[in-house]
Amino acid sequence: MTSVSGPATPPVLFELTAVTEAAARAAYDWIGRGDKEQGDAAAVDAMRAALGALEIDGTIVVGEGEKDEAPGLYNGERVGNPDSPIKLDIAVDPVEGTSYLAKGLTNAMAVIALAPRGAMFDPGPAFYMEKLAVPPAAKGKIDVNWPTAEKLRVLAAALSKKISDLRVFVLEKPRHRTLIEEIHKAGARVSLYPAGDVAGALMAAIPDSGIDALMGTGGTPEGLLSACAIRALGGEFLGRINPQLQTETAAVRKAGIDTVRWYSAAELVRSDEVYFCATGITTGLLFDGVERTAEFDRTQTLMISGATGERQILTSYRRLGRQHPAS
Ligand code: FBP
Repeated sequence: MTSVSGPATPPVLFELTAVTEAAARAAYDWIGRGDKEQGDAAAVDAMRAALGALEIDGTIVVGEGEKDEAPGLYNGERVGNPDSPIKLDIAVDPVEGTSYLAKGLTNAMAVIALAPRGAMFDPGPAFYMEKLAVPPAAKGKIDVNWPTAEKLRVLAAALSKKISDLRVFVLEKPRHRTLIEEIHKAGARVSLYPAGDVAGALMAAIPDSGIDALMGTGGTPEGLLSACAIRALGGEFLGRINPQLQTETAAVRKAGIDTVRWYSAAELVRSDEVYFCATGITTGLLFDGVERTAEFDRTQTLMISGATGERQILTSYRRLGRQHPAS
């Protein structure tokens, strides 16, 4: 596949932090209130307003769903200024981990990725994707068709670890019963999370994060966002469309999407000029959530630049009622 090169002036990552920061601060009001829809809606509105203020011509390739179901940030929506010469594909998840938000649990975050127009894989009607993510040292070394035990053996060798020290992030879902048994049987450990596999993919790609791999099936939008982050970070992400619902299977078949083929991060986002930001809503293993005091919101945002392969965590203190200066 050919690579897509970026606009002459890519938006700086700092401006992008305005978008996830706004979503996270809006979602804060809904932490632990048992209402994931309202929390998501608040984050969508805030993210949409912040995106609208950027000097970009963006198309939402991966968003909240189809126009008829999503109040905003739906797939195909144009955001920003249509006259801007900076033409971009955008993937968003205003609240990754809506159940964590509603239950007041750790690991909810607001996420966005940008790449030059035409660079992102369009998942169409696919909801679910099987995923494998591993750190840079194991890139290109694992065949997705191998049995789980063989994958773990090669991963352990690539990371110079014992299999018994490997920790694999898996979503706690009935569909993963066999996978979990296979990982246990191979002698590795499973970190079972009920939700939030973007965090799992990020941790898998970041050496010494406490997670050595992500395996199993999760959301396709989350897979695309993870692919963007891992393309930018280094590391390996591989994904295969893996429909779980009857209606989804039919729609995916109708759309002619290949459910056998595994796509690499480089195929899911065909540019090095990919930018990723995630702001914590509730505190997770990688960064803190929003903390509100009488005067300030304190936020932490992970920023990753594909152009440099560098990452930063930005801590901001915004006065209550005041937005990011870039928005
Ligand atoms: P939401 O934020 O939409 O609740 O998604 C959370 C999540 O756990 C993702 O991280 C994951 O990819 C997906 O849901 C898995 O979906 P499901 O819970 O239907 O298996």
